[in-house]
Amino acid sequence: MTVPWKSPPDLFRIGLLLCVTGAVSGQFQLEPLNSTVLQGSDAQFNATVQGNWQVMTWTVGGLLVLNFPVTGNITSSSEQFSARFCSSVDISCVEFTIHNVTRSGDASLVVCRVLGDYGSKTAHLYVQESGTVNVNGGNVTVVRHQQVEFQCVTTAWFPTPTVSWTRNGQAVSSSLYNTTSMADGDTFNSTSVLKFQAVSNAMVECRATVLSLTSPQFSSVFLVVVPKPPDWTVLIAVVVSIGGFALLVLLINGIIFCYKRREEKQPNYQDEMSRRVRTHSQISGVNAAGQRQGQENAGYVPEGQTSVAPSELTDSSFSQLNGSKVYKVADAVNTNQAENCYSGAHITVGESGVRKHRHVTIV
Ligand SMILES: *[C@@H]1O[C@H](CO)[C@@H](O)[C@H](O)[C@H]1NC(C)=O
Ligand SMILES: *[C@@H]1O[C@H](CO)[C@@H](O)[C@H](O)[C@H]1NC(C)=O
Ligand SMILES: *[C@@H]1O[C@H](CO)[C@@H](O)[C@H](O)[C@H]1NC(C)=O
Ligand SMILES: *[C@@H]1O[C@H](CO)[C@@H](O)[C@H](O)[C@H]1NC(C)=O
Ligand SMILES: *[C@@H]1O[C@H](CO)[C@@H](O)[C@H](O)[C@H]1NC(C)=O
Repeated sequence: MTVPWKSPPDLFRIGLLLCVTGAVSGQFQLEPLNSTVLQGSDAQFNATVQGNWQVMTWTVGGLLVLNFPVTGNITSSSEQFSARFCSSVDISCVEFTIHNVTRSGDASLVVCRVLGDYGSKTAHLYVQESGTVNVNGGNVTVVRHQQVEFQCVTTAWFPTPTVSWTRNGQAVSSSLYNTTSMADGDTFNSTSVLKFQAVSNAMVECRATVLSLTSPQFSSVFLVVVPKPPDWTVLIAVVVSIGGFALLVLLINGIIFCYKRREEKQPNYQDEMSRRVRTHSQISGVNAAGQRQGQENAGYVPEGQTSVAPSELTDSSFSQLNGSKVYKVADAVNTNQAENCYSGAHITVGESGVRKHRHVTIV
């Protein structure tokens, strides 16, 4: 029943012990121990201190930049540095901020020290730079299946950016591009060359990024693929051959036309001759029968004078006639049939000769 009365001194002792232990051991955490941020952005560090602390200091790049007492005014070397309690009700947590971080100005070591037996903690600050990205040459138009090359230049990055390419939003295989970098002062330039065979229209994008960049910088151009233009040599050859063929057809048509005209003209000529001969025969009909004709072809008249009589003209006698004598027949025929004058004039042993003969036999 006396136990409750003993408790308060024990509890007090325990509480005192904890307090002393905390003060002696000096426990505090600094987070993050490594921070990578973009130049121009803010870098934040949190210090969580157990126990009863009085004053905290922050050193950046070896320079004391901020003094933070638990009670009293905070002093800083510039507006670039600030600190506050993480929450108004919790004095164990302090948030330290470096505004507008610059790579040249802000050395990489950030040190937090809590006065007393706490000691100090050191964090590393890495500042990166995001430069520019540009795909040289702008939009590209190529013939289908042609090899196309894109060049992407990144300027003023730190450290060397990771360059990648996309085609219509799809990542391009790294086997299709090469990226080389060179230092330019305290930053880096890089050139990436992408090569592939153009198949279809595409939006080609070059992306560059560094760890601290939440979304990559990019530059995009359009690839326009056109069908292969006609081969001019083939076209010329086709035109020439078509032209040649047309010319040939024209020539053949011309020849056929001329030939037909000649064929049409020849019968006309014969008709004309026949007409003339008939007229002649009529005239000769007027004259006494048996009288010699042959004024038309005087050449054979003399021999015709001594020609055989119509009665003598038989098959056998005709067959004996040859080229040189045919006009005799003709002439002889002429005496009966003036029409044969024409045939005789042609000295044709063949058909006309036979015809003549038949005329003769009929008569
Ligand atoms: C804190 O700052 C305020 C104004 O900035 C000033 O009036 C006050 O005297 C300062 N206190 C101390 C303890 O320096
Ligand atoms: C950040 O720092 C740079 C260089 O010190 C300065 O030119 C720029 O104005 C600063 N920006 C801001 C928002 O303070
Ligand atoms: C590239 O092509 C796109 C889409 O056709 C067009 O909007 C853009 O203006 C072109 N850029 C240049 C530099 O011609
Ligand atoms: C990249 O470079 C390597 C070696 O120089 C070469 O073999 C390869 O063909 C290049 N690739 C491209 C896409 O340029
Ligand atoms: C880096 O790029 C800038 C801008 O294009 C250029 O002026 C500079 O000469 C380049 N540096 C190197 C080392 O190529």
